[in-house]
Amino acid sequence: MVNPIHVLSGPNLNLLGTREPEIYGKDTLDDVRARCEARAALHGHSVVFRQSNHEGQLIDWVQEARVSASALVINPAGYGHTSIALLDALKTLSIPVIECHLSNPAAREEFRRHTYVSLAATGIVSGFGAASYELAIEAAIGLIGAN
Ligand code: DQA
Repeated sequence: MVNPIHVLSGPNLNLLGTREPEIYGKDTLDDVRARCEARAALHGHSVVFRQSNHEGQLIDWVQEARVSASALVINPAGYGHTSIALLDALKTLSIPVIECHLSNPAAREEFRRHTYVSLAATGIVSGFGAASYELAIEAAIGLIGAN
């Protein structure tokens, strides 16, 4: 049995659909979850999908992914720009790590142009709204078992 793909979303993404919809789109996080599950299922994979507003909780889940996930898709949200602790946790993983953003942070404010998470990411998908998550799932599946 292949381990599930873990999908983590960081702070404020629980408000997806109502939070700055002109930037992040109208899909809710439940819509995103359904899209991830459906996309993974197309390839015979399953998904563990979680969101937290708390840095320590995200780190605990990264550590869990270390032993029970086949790949990790993470939208670190604001913590991507600030959290060395999250980076340190991600650096312990030996599975593919796909960083994912709904918007394209590189085309936004200066402070969004750097993410610590990128230093530990196998690759990054950003700027496609909810589809970024699906593309990240596709990328993860392409990498699972490639090493
Ligand atoms: C985000 C981009 C981040 O800069 C921001 O802090 C978020 C969401 C995105 O998905 O586009 O909360 O990660």
